[in-house]
Amino acid sequence: MKTIKIGNTNFEASAIALGIMRMDQLSDQDAAKVLTTAKDAGITYIDSADIYGSGASEKKFAAAMKVAGLNREDFYIQSKGGIVLDPARSHDGLVFGKRYDFSKEHILSAVDGILERLHVDYLDSFLLHRPDPLMDLDEVAEAFDELQTAGKVRHFGVSNFNPQQVEMLQSAVNQRLMINQLQFGLMHTGAIDAGMHVNMQDDDSINHDGGMLEYSRRKNMTVQAWSPFQYGMFAGVFVDNPKFPELNKAMQTVADKHGVTKNAIATAWILRHPANIQVILGTMNPQHLVESAAGADVELSKQEWYDLYLAAGHILP
Ligand SMILES: NC(=O)c1ccc[n+]([C@@H]2O[C@H](COP(=O)([O-])OP(=O)(O)OC[C@H]3O[C@@H](n4cnc5c(N)ncnc54)[C@H](OP(=O)(O)O)[C@@H]3O)[C@@H](O)[C@H]2O)c1
Repeated sequence: MKTIKIGNTNFEASAIALGIMRMDQLSDQDAAKVLTTAKDAGITYIDSADIYGSGASEKKFAAAMKVAGLNREDFYIQSKGGIVLDPARSHDGLVFGKRYDFSKEHILSAVDGILERLHVDYLDSFLLHRPDPLMDLDEVAEAFDELQTAGKVRHFGVSNFNPQQVEMLQSAVNQRLMINQLQFGLMHTGAIDAGMHVNMQDDDSINHDGGMLEYSRRKNMTVQAWSPFQYGMFAGVFVDNPKFPELNKAMQTVADKHGVTKNAIATAWILRHPANIQVILGTMNPQHLVESAAGADVELSKQEWYDLYLAAGHILP
């Protein structure tokens, strides 16, 4: 398994991480099977969030670690907080918030809740889940200091932030922000489209994230690609989806050439970008997991990368 360095930490982590957002749906035994499959495939990084499964995913992870006989040190464990759940809007495994809350009180209690549910003493990293427009920078700074001093969190980062928001928060906190988690994949390419349509009048020229990929490369900040197999926001999977015949045909062609499956190609496409992106897989199916993780060992040619981009319906000016 290819590894990457997380930010400027000494974490040499697998280029593919396992996200446990959907783990609450599994039995303890099935969840244990997912974790052992991930470990055997070389995955050393787990991503979570306090709200996943309204907290049930983290509890399931703890139970599954026990069933699988795995140790805390087998994985870097990351979680996220800063969203206050709205039970009234959450349904069918999808969770929604009623506000974002970066108050010191909320951040501290969020991390305590995460540690309790995961049955761990510390997190390797903690990310603020979505930017809170009402964030008080000094409160975040105090919260991060307390968490670090107490040994509860080793490293910090953000999720769904643009570069200005990172700069603003970085100016207030004492810890270097190491990670930004963003949606990125063959069917969610806003982070690169605008860079290829500079100064044009079409929709692709709209810069949706303030140049986050370029910023991250300059700052040595790790970008983690969430929902790498989804189109839209959880609209569905594009692999094997008849809505995307051209893309699936192109993925199959490249997959045949490399002797892997389309799942591996969807992953390899993200990893081919030179920003050292870490892919966060969300599958809870061991076979999909092994196939997708195999993408870490596939090096696409530049032409293959562009062919797939175009087959996904994107335009090269
Ligand atoms: N920071 C954020 O705002 C944010 C937001 C969302 C997610 N995340 C993180 O990103 C992780 C991944 O998100 P995600 O679960 O949406 O990612 P994903 O890997 O794009 O999607 C996973 C879903 O796709 C299905 N799937 C994958 N490959 C498939 C295939 N070949 N054929 C059919 N179905 C397939 C899976 O079903 P099977 O289980 O049956 O394979 C699962 O339902 C989450 O666990 C979470 O850690 C972060």
